[in-house]
Amino acid sequence: MVFSSSLSHLAMLVSLSANTVLAAPRPSSPQSLSMNLKRRAPEARSADEIGTWAQAHKLNVEAKYRKTASSVEKRSTGQNLVVNQKADSSFFGSLAVGTPPVAYDVILDTGSADLWLASSECAASACDGVPTFKSSDSSTFQNKSTEFSITYGSGAAAGSLGEDVVQMAGFSVSNQVFGVCDQVSDNLLNSPVSGLLGLAFQTIASSGASPLWETLASSGAWDQPLMAFQLTRFNNDSKATDLEPGGTFTMGTTNTSLYTGDIDYNDIPDNDESYWLQTVSSITSQGNTITISSGSSALAAIDTGTTLIGGPADAVAEIYSNIPNSEAGTGQLDGYYIYPCSTTVNVTMAFGGKSWAISNADFQAEQLNSNTCMGAFFSLDTGDNAPSWIVGDTFLKNVYSVFRYNPASVGFAELSSEALAMNGVNAAVPSATIGSAAATVSATAGARDANNGAASFHSLSTGPVLSLLAITLTILFSSRLV
Ligand SMILES: *[C@@H]1O[C@H](CO)[C@@H](O)[C@H](O)[C@H]1NC(C)=O
Ligand SMILES: *[C@@H]1O[C@H](CO)[C@@H](O)[C@H](O)[C@H]1NC(C)=O
Ligand SMILES: *[C@@H]1O[C@H](CO)[C@@H](O)[C@H](O)[C@H]1NC(C)=O
Ligand SMILES: *[C@@H]1O[C@H](CO)[C@@H](O)[C@H](O)[C@H]1NC(C)=O
Repeated sequence: MVFSSSLSHLAMLVSLSANTVLAAPRPSSPQSLSMNLKRRAPEARSADEIGTWAQAHKLNVEAKYRKTASSVEKRSTGQNLVVNQKADSSFFGSLAVGTPPVAYDVILDTGSADLWLASSECAASACDGVPTFKSSDSSTFQNKSTEFSITYGSGAAAGSLGEDVVQMAGFSVSNQVFGVCDQVSDNLLNSPVSGLLGLAFQTIASSGASPLWETLASSGAWDQPLMAFQLTRFNNDSKATDLEPGGTFTMGTTNTSLYTGDIDYNDIPDNDESYWLQTVSSITSQGNTITISSGSSALAAIDTGTTLIGGPADAVAEIYSNIPNSEAGTGQLDGYYIYPCSTTVNVTMAFGGKSWAISNADFQAEQLNSNTCMGAFFSLDTGDNAPSWIVGDTFLKNVYSVFRYNPASVGFAELSSEALAMNGVNAAVPSATIGSAAATVSATAGARDANNGAASFHSLSTGPVLSLLAITLTILFSSRLV
């Protein structure tokens, strides 16, 4: 509730350099656009502020997961350069909407499935200083006259659904349905971010609409039916600014210069295409194996839109039981754990295949005072209809991650030295430019069939949609106190 939108107004957008030819390992060289991920400078914050943030983060993640239940011109690939906001608190990219196209920064969220933008009609303070979408400025905008809302642990965004041309990373969907939100809770947006792009499956979309990525993947617009992330780490860099280069988001291909070795894919269990689900098969803490329940309590959502890692209380307690002098947090840190900052922590996670280490720099999520740190794992109760584990950026900064449409799976690979060399390196965040689209797709190509992944589009006539999907933590702070 106290997430203030006090970020500086360096509203720089991500850059899109048109017509860059990707050096992808493909026989042909597809066209692409390239966009950067960025990040900004954190402010020092007090232990109270960290507590407020930590509490809201846990509530947000719980609310997010406690849910009720064309013609392609050619195949291509594209890269979107990501921005790292507030020392790894969130990662955003940019897209362009309307005719003429206007660029917006949006949180890239593999843990939800709706696209929404703050509307020019938004009078809420959350929209102050944030670039907003003005439907009357776009000649191709169509009002669907259907209400849209998304609720979060600490707020909500609501408005109406519209349809317009949306371009991203060199791809264009001519009739993307998205929320135009005139009601936005205080803590949801942090300038320059104007909204959120959901990158999970249509089955969990509040709008019922096919997500941008799924329209592109199912229509065959992509060289390969997958998208991939490399996310940077700045949370252990005291010189980090509010916005820093955040890594890369690639559509239709992986970027082989950013990882080494094979990508270790594991199928989405039971073909349940909703969140990007994986089964947690093993966790170690300081070399000791943690007890993981089987079945649904081992399910994890791989979520770029969540900062930390939430899991069942007993497993999280066991992780910390291997860290001497750690203890459960109290008050606003309820559900979190604190431990001596001098301890180097080694936690690994596996999802059926290879085991992946989380760096001590990521495990050490916050420094509360000179001796006491807060760990990145927190206990989470997502309820019966959501995965028990939410695996966020704490983990994802340590791997190259691939979200594959068909066969539906998530893959991880070791980051290359080139990727690792981007961590903690202050650099200018490029500004947005809109390039021409390499491929244009229509989302109205037919009803989605979950079994064959045919192109998509659900009825929007179901009235106001209830969603719990949320934005994650939009932000907040991330520097440490000393
Ligand atoms: C892969 O990523 C590197 C580092 O961001 C970038 O320089 C290169 O252009 C990318 N390659 C492709 C084919 O997008
Ligand atoms: C769409 O139309 C509804 C009335 O049906 C209106 O309330 C809403 O503001 C319109 N949305 C936009 C983005 O123009
Ligand atoms: C941040 O953490 C990484 C990984 O542990 C490490 O390589 C790097 O040196 C750290 N950076 C700083 C500024 O401590
Ligand atoms: C972390 O723990 C794993 C599992 O016990 C072990 O294989 C690995 O070598 C450890 N890494 C470090 C850096 O200690």
